Amino acid sequence: MKITNYSKQTIDQNDINEVIKTLKSKFLTKGKKTILFENKIKKYCKSRYVCATINASSSLLMACKAIGLSNNDIIWTSNVTYIASINCGLHLGAKIDLVDIDDTNNICVDNLEKKLILAKKEKKLPKILVAVHLSGLPCNLKKIKELSKIYRFKIIEDASHAFGSVYGNSKIGSCKFSDLTIFSFHPVKNITTAEGSAITTNSLQIYRKLLLIRENGQDFSGINRVNFPTKYDVTTLGFNFRINEINSSLGLSQIEKTNKFIKKKKFIAKRYFNEMKLPEITLPCKKILKLSSLHLFIIRIDFRKLKINKFQFIKKLKKKNIVVNCHYIPLNKLKIIKNNLPKINFKNSEKYYEQAMSIPMYPDLKYIEQSYIISVFKKLIQKYKKKIK
Ligand SMILES: Cc1ncc(COP(=O)(O)O)c(C=O)c1O
Repeated sequence: MKITNYSKQTIDQNDINEVIKTLKSKFLTKGKKTILFENKIKKYCKSRYVCATINASSSLLMACKAIGLSNNDIIWTSNVTYIASINCGLHLGAKIDLVDIDDTNNICVDNLEKKLILAKKEKKLPKILVAVHLSGLPCNLKKIKELSKIYRFKIIEDASHAFGSVYGNSKIGSCKFSDLTIFSFHPVKNITTAEGSAITTNSLQIYRKLLLIRENGQDFSGINRVNFPTKYDVTTLGFNFRINEINSSLGLSQIEKTNKFIKKKKFIAKRYFNEMKLPEITLPCKKILKLSSLHLFIIRIDFRKLKINKFQFIKKLKKKNIVVNCHYIPLNKLKIIKNNLPKINFKNSEKYYEQAMSIPMYPDLKYIEQSYIISVFKKLIQKYKKKIK
């Protein structure tokens, strides 16, 4: 049996037909498909505005720029996330800082509060907090929102993993507790546009800025485009971060299947919860079944007890044709971040890195493959246990 990735896209004939239709149409970019895709996301998340873009890394940069982050400012995020969650700040010359995680693998709000109290005294408060929903499990947005009111920072939700996740009685993306939310539609994510992303917000002012930034700052406001179709002004420094019609048409077809994909992953997650119970394995918190889009199923293994390290174990899995991944190497371990960071102890992230891995879970993972994964994990752990005795 060969399970060659921890996640992958699910593409059906309808997806293919929609893409072909677009390829045969008049517009490959700047057409109706992108507007339709944005409207679908708006309806799904119940946000006021949506701006679709080429990928979540660019969306994060756009979001920081729309808030006005500059080289006089500070941006914070969780220490366990993808580099793009903080690169957006580095690109704009801002100073960065990181907060350790708790046992949900998301930002620890107690640590966050302590850090904010100290930062206030030292006059080093952040302008933006990037709140990441790792694996799709929403972080504690209510507490973060409360803190943002006291310490006056803006909140960008990095919901790259969380399209379809639920918080309170809303979908992630409603921006009830944030200024903007970013989704990624990379092929391993919940739905895909190949590469692509969307930003949701309830602020008209932010939305208008996003539109300018997405299109090289070209400003058509106040111009009668029927009489003066070639006229525009440039008021903002921007990029070309437009999604094209091919990606959007794939997104339009995929978004209809969001809940179906989550349901299929929920079935697999439930099997893992029921059948991977071993004292050496810590399964994710059960609330992922209710709240998470189930982008990732992250387990932890006590490798110290087994007297091996994680990477040896991953090698063994690979020999058995099972590919897992690690989301992520804590940011404080990366050279580019180390050089920009005060020395801090990230105790929980260190432990996470030592123990955590994302095991295969995607809608098309067959029952027999799930059984194989469960049995290989159990056998390997038993083997190492025997060796210790
Ligand atoms: C937490 C997080 N943020 C941002 C990104 C960037 O997404 P994209 O690949 O769409 O640029 C990723 C991608 O994996 C991610 O996991």
